[in-house]
Amino acid sequence: MRYDPVRGTYDVLPDTAGWWQVVEAAVRDVARRYNYREIRTPILEHTELFSRGIGESTDVVNKEMYTFQDRRGRSLTLRPEGTASVARAYLSHGLQTEAPFQKLFYVGPMFRYEKPQKGRFRQFEQYGVEAIGSLDPSLDAEVIAFAWTLMDDLGLGGLWLRLNSIGCAEDRDRYRDILRRHFADRLDRMCSDCQRRHEMNPLRILDCKEDRCRPHIDAAPGSAEHLCSECADHFAQVRTLLDELGLSYEIDPRVVRGLDYYTRTVFELVSSDLGSQDSLLGGGRYDGLIEALGGPPTPGVGFAGGTERLVIVLRERGSRVPSASTIDLFLATLGGAGRRIAFRLAEALRRQGIAVDIDHRDRSFRKQLTLANQLAARFLLVIGDDEAASGRGALKEMATGQEVSVDLAPETIVRAVERPGSSD
Ligand code: HAM
Repeated sequence: MRYDPVRGTYDVLPDTAGWWQVVEAAVRDVARRYNYREIRTPILEHTELFSRGIGESTDVVNKEMYTFQDRRGRSLTLRPEGTASVARAYLSHGLQTEAPFQKLFYVGPMFRYEKPQKGRFRQFEQYGVEAIGSLDPSLDAEVIAFAWTLMDDLGLGGLWLRLNSIGCAEDRDRYRDILRRHFADRLDRMCSDCQRRHEMNPLRILDCKEDRCRPHIDAAPGSAEHLCSECADHFAQVRTLLDELGLSYEIDPRVVRGLDYYTRTVFELVSSDLGSQDSLLGGGRYDGLIEALGGPPTPGVGFAGGTERLVIVLRERGSRVPSASTIDLFLATLGGAGRRIAFRLAEALRRQGIAVDIDHRDRSFRKQLTLANQLAARFLLVIGDDEAASGRGALKEMATGQEVSVDLAPETIVRAVERPGSSD
């Protein structure tokens, strides 16, 4: 039997892990600049958190959750997204009384039983931000600016932002009725899922990707045309702030997002490099979520994006693989005495912050040099019987071929590696 990764999951091998590191480092750095603090929540949650938080009528809850019973018969789910978990953590720890306004970010694996294809996996990584505790439109604009800054830092241009507002709970109820009427006499030409959605939540019809449903969806009225005056004002303010920041967007009435917790602002950042899975990231406001989970009325806004999709775009645009980590020094050895010294020296140098490696397979000198080259070691130091006897060796800088004679004492080597060109 051959063991392969489970369908929809993948291995990130060391040669490509650099991409993930670049994306994650960029997320962390942008979070630092915008003052979002990291939160890590469990991968396992009670199923009810998602059925209540995300909504029973959504595809995520209906068809895509990895749900199982634990040994005591409790229904648990591998988190399909991060927002409900962050809202749960906010309530579990009483953050609303401690520091009601919180700006948080996270990076971690999510799970959805979807049909795997380019940019769509069953285990995928999301980076996301959640700003909880303010209704101010400046926060909507800030999380959108965060997303644009992240893309700029990664050197990704040619993206566009689709923006919409779906209004407050009352607006959505009204809009649902408008959609229900719009689709009523078209339903017989639409898919069975849409017929079910028409019953449960006609807003979800707008998520349908079926070709035969698209023309009916394209003809549907947009949510932003049916906002109450407060929501219309909020939306206008968000747009003004984005204009002031010089951030581009296009109003797209089709963007309603596939999760039920959204209110008011919703957005998606898209790239043509991704084909049908064109959404690099998506988010919006969720002013009713925390209350729906049993907390006090607490607004929130955020977004999340898939790390894999960013990596796909970076690769397709021909960005160079971020150089796999290189080492500072390779210790090549000749003879038993040299090996013993090299083994001890490597350990001492690592403790002083130098990245060092040796050959652990007792191979020929030539093979050791090949390995030093493969590892792109910056320096090479050969330790044979002579060096073992004299306690000195020649430290070679690989890029220039320059050699300096050094003491085989860790401090001397650290100095020479950190300040190439100077000798002891
Ligand atoms: P979402 O649109 O379901 O929103 O997912 C956000 C992003 O996660 C997508 O734009 C995509 O980049 C990535 N993604 C989703 N599903 C997959 C998949 N199967 N494979 C690969 N990537 C995927 C949310 O999850 C919300 N929690 C976002 C949010 C945060 N809204 C407010 N705060």
